[in-house]
Amino acid sequence: MAASEFVAWVRDFEAERDRRGATPDPSWESGARLSPAVRASVQRFQLGEDGDGANLIAKADAAGDPHYAAAVRLFEDEEHNHARLLARLLAAGGATTSAGHWSDAVFARMRRSAGLHAELLLLMVAEVVALRYYRALRDGTGDPLTSEVARRILADEERHVPFHCARLRGSVAGLPRPLRRPVLAGWRVMLLGAGLVVAADHGRALRELGVGRGRFVADVAGSAGPVVAAILGTDPPRTPAGRAEPAAAALPAHPRNGCRPRARVWQLPGTGRPDTGYEGVPGTLSRRTSRAERTYP
Ligand SMILES: [Fe+2]
Ligand SMILES: [Fe+2]
Repeated sequence: MAASEFVAWVRDFEAERDRRGATPDPSWESGARLSPAVRASVQRFQLGEDGDGANLIAKADAAGDPHYAAAVRLFEDEEHNHARLLARLLAAGGATTSAGHWSDAVFARMRRSAGLHAELLLLMVAEVVALRYYRALRDGTGDPLTSEVARRILADEERHVPFHCARLRGSVAGLPRPLRRPVLAGWRVMLLGAGLVVAADHGRALRELGVGRGRFVADVAGSAGPVVAAILGTDPPRTPAGRAEPAAAALPAHPRNGCRPRARVWQLPGTGRPDTGYEGVPGTLSRRTSRAERTYP
């Protein structure tokens, strides 16, 4: 595996860190309207984002590539920021963070006991589920603060998936050829299982956000193909330098404020269209009036 690949990722994470430092937080003082189901759902995702990451960092250190280890530390900083944003969102909605849940304890134990590559496969399950969840939260809530927090987190998660793919590509390439597809088939089964668990646990919230359980599971399972292709190298690798896509660049500027559409980093299936929208223009990312918007105007 070429170390230079992770030099580019370190630069990408550092650029994001600097951009984040220069961007004010969402305006928490405006408050958030969270329905009981969405509040409980956000509490669970806040817990999931709140791991300390020490195990993954230790495994990355031991892997012997200092650039990768540096990128993992910056990646963990972004995950901590997600936990912070969700905690502030809950506080803005008059709620507290949750003390703990069995599913997070099980997931953390599985991650701790795994080696680096197995942990990355587990982490990738969580990242891919998170992509669909935060997109539902961003597009389906009628609350501007919730949508803004979900938009910021989703933008990071869209970079995390190709980052993990980059490392896993090298890991899987090191396996005997007959083992590669069965390992990734096992990963697909884990992803499907995680999608089913989240759809069951968060079903009410997802329905309020305009995504039925079946749709959620189908979209999560459908995300497996591009991820597996990227890991196997049958799809061109997505590097930080390759983030901007012609599809976004070709879209016209927003008619009211002239904002350029943001580039899509990772496309989810199920929409039949690129996941593009206008930075900082609430409402342009959604074409759906959700039940939450109707219930909590
Ligand atoms: Fe996250
Ligand atoms: Fe992530």
